[in-house]
Amino acid sequence: MVNEAKIEIDASSSLNELQEVKVKYLGKKGLLTAELKTLGSLEPEARKAKGAAVNMVKNELEMMFEARETALKDAELARKLSSEALDVSLPGIPFQAGGFHLITRIIDDLSDIYRGMGYAVVQGQEVEDELHNFDALNIPGYHPARDQWDTFWLKDNRVLRTHTSPMQIRFMEAHEAPFKIVVPGKVFRFEQTDATHEAMFHQLEGLVVGEGITLADQKGTLAEMAKGLFGSRAKVRFQPSYYPFTEPSADFAVYWENPRTGAAKWLELGGCGMVHPRVFEAVCKLRNDDKYAHARGFAFGLGIERLAMIKYGIPDIRYFFQNDLRVLRQFRGNLD
Ligand code: PHE
Repeated sequence: MVNEAKIEIDASSSLNELQEVKVKYLGKKGLLTAELKTLGSLEPEARKAKGAAVNMVKNELEMMFEARETALKDAELARKLSSEALDVSLPGIPFQAGGFHLITRIIDDLSDIYRGMGYAVVQGQEVEDELHNFDALNIPGYHPARDQWDTFWLKDNRVLRTHTSPMQIRFMEAHEAPFKIVVPGKVFRFEQTDATHEAMFHQLEGLVVGEGITLADQKGTLAEMAKGLFGSRAKVRFQPSYYPFTEPSADFAVYWENPRTGAAKWLELGGCGMVHPRVFEAVCKLRNDDKYAHARGFAFGLGIERLAMIKYGIPDIRYFFQNDLRVLRQFRGNLD
């Protein structure tokens, strides 16, 4: 019986099959059990002898089953391990990593520069009313400055903001001086689109109000920003200009050396000036108090796309907003 059992045990290729063989020999109705049952009918001498022999067979069978069971389990584990093995030498599956849009990155960089100078970064609303976009900024209905900005008017007389300056008014309505804020965001102008004009673009507005604020603070702040953007050798230049909501007003440019070509030039970045007293007057009216009646401060606004185009050599403003991955991918890695 041992030999037959051995053949069957060796032939069983799974734990299930092995279990069937085990039942056949060692189960309640198994062959060996049947042998044991015959013992009772034997003479004492013969029973003893056969009993010992059957027990030996039983032990032997049990050992064989155990050995086979271990072997099958090991084989099963080995098979599983090899089928689930990870070959670390294979090339990985490329991961499609996204990235921030260049405009977002420049806004983040600028925000960091200003946070470093203690500014809060706040957001305004893109749909404005005439009061905040124009009137409170000393641009009344008859003012020629309104013509410079071809405005998108909504049916209810609201406008898509033509600049981020309305946030000057909104912030002062809701907050007390002194404060320093920058306001990055989208602005809209009803423009004929070409390589340097888009109907939507981005600005960063700055407003500082506090006691003793002067034009020197304005200049120092913009020089600091220029260094943050273009390195420690950057310089700023101011040229007299006109904005209804600042007096005096200036346009500022940054002197900048292109690290790739070595060429240096003045880059016109935006407008600035000391906040016009009429702006503070309008704020007092809106707040219905005189907290800003004698306030002083400076404001500035710069165009983000312009900055990006010149710094990174992008020839057409429309490239920013066409979602062409060939353009966007170039600015996924480190800038500069
Ligand atoms: N709002 C002005 C513009 O869009 C820029 C500006 C902001 C000028 C703040 C002076 C002060 O052109």
